[in-house]
Amino acid sequence: MQNQTMVTKNIKNFQARSSRLVFVKASLVSALLVSPWVSAPLIAKTFDQPADSVQWRASEFAGYSLALQKCTTCHSAHYAEYQPPSAGAAYWKAQVLRMKNVFKAPLTDEEAQTVVEYLSQNYGSARK
Ligand code: HEC
Repeated sequence: MQNQTMVTKNIKNFQARSSRLVFVKASLVSALLVSPWVSAPLIAKTFDQPADSVQWRASEFAGYSLALQKCTTCHSAHYAEYQPPSAGAAYWKAQVLRMKNVFKAPLTDEEAQTVVEYLSQNYGSARK
């Protein structure tokens, strides 16, 4: 019981200390950031983000449901819509492997191939 109280006390002390530290750091950072540019006008910059609610094209290909599960965790079908319609399976394969190897999209090699078929048949040159 005694120990439990000590532990709780220590945690509280630690929390108090770290929030003070954060406050000190934040003040330092804002002082550094603000001082040299105080006279510069504040210009709000805006930019348009790509629409991110684009649905994957519905298809009977097995890769459709894989795309829904595995690709949508990061982005919509927006990127797929903007690929050249002339893109063949090799192009799509390169894209899917890039997603898998560079961004760690969670796909087995077999699943990657299934998605490639779906993409080239529904977005690429093999589209009917
Ligand atoms: C872990 C996150 C992640 C997953 C999962 C993911 N992507 Fe991506 N994807 C990205 C990012 C980040 C970009 C934009 C940066 C880039 O293209 O280098 C991108 C871009 C793309 C592009 C555009 C490439 C270009 O050159 O214009 C395509 C096509 C694409 N993804 C397809 C897919 C497909 C198909 C899947 C599912 C198999 C998938 N992505 C899964 C992160 C991911």
